[in-house]
Amino acid sequence: MTTAEDSKHTAERNDFDDANDVDRIMEIAQANDNPHELIHLVQDNADAIFTWNYDKGERAKLDKLYEKSKTSQWNATTDLDWSIEVDPYEALNLQAELQMDPSNVEDPDSPLYSWGDKEWREFGLQSAKWRLSQFMHGEQGALLCTAKIVETVPWIDAKYYAAQQTVDEARHVEAFARYLNEKLDGGYPVNPHLRLLLDDIINDSDWDMTYLGMQIMVEGLALAAFGFMHDLTEEPLLKKMLRYIMSDEARHVAFGVLSLQEVYQDMTLAEIQHRQEFAFEAALRMRDRFLQQEVWEYMGVDSRVMCERLLNAPEETKVFQRMLFSKIVPNCRKLGLLDAGEGWLREKFTEIGVIEFEHMPDTGDEFLEYDLQEENFEEKAQSMHEAAAATAMGTAEA
Ligand SMILES: [Fe+2]
Ligand SMILES: [Fe+2]
Repeated sequence: MTTAEDSKHTAERNDFDDANDVDRIMEIAQANDNPHELIHLVQDNADAIFTWNYDKGERAKLDKLYEKSKTSQWNATTDLDWSIEVDPYEALNLQAELQMDPSNVEDPDSPLYSWGDKEWREFGLQSAKWRLSQFMHGEQGALLCTAKIVETVPWIDAKYYAAQQTVDEARHVEAFARYLNEKLDGGYPVNPHLRLLLDDIINDSDWDMTYLGMQIMVEGLALAAFGFMHDLTEEPLLKKMLRYIMSDEARHVAFGVLSLQEVYQDMTLAEIQHRQEFAFEAALRMRDRFLQQEVWEYMGVDSRVMCERLLNAPEETKVFQRMLFSKIVPNCRKLGLLDAGEGWLREKFTEIGVIEFEHMPDTGDEFLEYDLQEENFEEKAQSMHEAAAATAMGTAEA
């Protein structure tokens, strides 16, 4: 760990005062100078570490996760029924998310005011393609990050588990890519906010930062989002695919929580503060990518106007966006990241309206509930979804 650098970082602590600055968000959105690039290079600054300690099970919880993952493998080619015909317009309609805020449809100044069925139908398809594409790119990020963890983590139990997760991620990329290509006629390039986040995670030289960026932030958000999409969609192929992927993702987030708990215990305050900032910056990048600038442009709508409207919408209408944080916030709490350094991250999560999720279940043990053998999964998933929605709307029972 680089304490000197951390102190410097802390001295210049960024307060992210411009979290809702549309200029900043649009500047990043338009920074994709080569949207057709096929190969993207990132400097990976980490050391590869061998360990000569082969004592399997020294970290019992990681060992349990590893054993669990060995018996939870599935095959995207044969376990999913790819012969199912999919109506691309009906696969995943996300219209309701926007219509939570009536001003998007009832205000004559809204670019969506004049939309009829034809536009909403097209929006449904484009936003499904866009969203599933970003998850596919995020899955590739997870594939690379987890392969990196195999190299960089010094514990044998974690190397074993990360190797298992790498296989899971290959399967997820494969499944999303096939769904997009065969059922939705192709996808969107990586969103610049997401790409920058993935670049930052790979770029960092401290091995625990890969876990924080990927397992806690990116996969925590994915686990929540897959749950909501799984509940929303009636399309049987996508529903089953999401069900399978969620059972893997819950283990992945648990891997992050269990590993970082041990590492954070021995860190200095300056080191923890650096991690708080990294987590918050990741949260902003993930929130900003959900403004889906590319879809507005495709629909012929001024993306800047829509981003401004969406960012400034009343909190109570941003239920879906906030629910994406329903796994991240309790996991950050469990890791002690919310309250360290005089509660800096708590304050920041309060500002962006997601702190209310802090007491929802964390993912340290929750992965067992997502198991593929879990018979009551559908009901459980629905009640998790309802609890997150009630918390986001402020109607949850205390
Ligand atoms: Fe994944
Ligand atoms: Fe994952």
